[in-house]
Amino acid sequence: MTVDQSIARHYTHGTLETAILDALKNAGKDPDKLSHGDLAAVDEFHIGGRQATTDLSAQIDLPRGARVLDVGCGIGGPARFFASERGWRIDGIDLTEEYVAVAERLTRRVGLGDLVSYRQAGATTLPFRDATFDGAYMLHVGMNIADKKSVFAEVRRVLKPGGVFAIYDVMRENDDAFVYPVPWSSEPATNAIETAATYKALLTGAGFTTVKERSRRDFAIEFFRQMRERMAESQAKGGPPPPGLPILMGSTAPQKVANMTALLQRGTISPTEIISRAA
Ligand SMILES: C[S@@+](CC[C@H](N)C(=O)[O-])C[C@H]1O[C@@H](n2cnc3c(N)ncnc32)[C@H](O)[C@@H]1O
Repeated sequence: MTVDQSIARHYTHGTLETAILDALKNAGKDPDKLSHGDLAAVDEFHIGGRQATTDLSAQIDLPRGARVLDVGCGIGGPARFFASERGWRIDGIDLTEEYVAVAERLTRRVGLGDLVSYRQAGATTLPFRDATFDGAYMLHVGMNIADKKSVFAEVRRVLKPGGVFAIYDVMRENDDAFVYPVPWSSEPATNAIETAATYKALLTGAGFTTVKERSRRDFAIEFFRQMRERMAESQAKGGPPPPGLPILMGSTAPQKVANMTALLQRGTISPTEIISRAA
């Protein structure tokens, strides 16, 4: 099995759309009348969820109608958010076949199919022509990709000169031992977490200028505290769990969240934003 196949296997759920729609029904939502906001608790697969996407959005100065690439779009939460709130036209690519299928179906369900489209593809070989996009973003994807140099070169190739590239990834802060599983990986072979310094050096090498960098560690610690609280409350009540990221993380969600929190608190990792611009 290749590393890409192991990554896709890590994320594949099997019956993800049904699990999401069932959780929303249990929470009193009508699956035939969903808005993109109703999906926010389950479709933003990164630390801080919708709030983190909103915070990143505030730093990207692209007009309505801009053509924007989502690298590793997952089930499409950020793409639907940016299409709906910013009016961008988004192309999402992702390695995991099931995520691409679920992203397409959820996007049609909430009526955003005209603004967003998805393709199954790897980030190191983007299926787009040179200078296609005004901007690109990548949320919690680089931790899986060892060959970031190729990803950044590809993003630079498909961006127009001056295009913005916004990254929000979990990055390494020191060389302390890692603990598995974490939300993006269950084994060392699929964990390619790197330091912000390495990201910036590779971005520079690919023709980008870094314009901003921000650690979101404190925000992340608070996010996980609230998530653990919600999980404990729902366990105490004994009813169905509320819609949330544990649906995507599967049966090992509590362990993944616990390991991630420990790594954050120890200062081993930190979710970090890097905004750069193509030369
Ligand atoms: C933690 S999820 C984040 C999804 C989405 N960006 C979000 O924030 O909701 C990581 C995603 O990266 C995708 N991914 C990992 N390696 C990839 C690669 N080499 N090329 C494209 N997608 C990749 C996975 O399939 C998964 O959907």
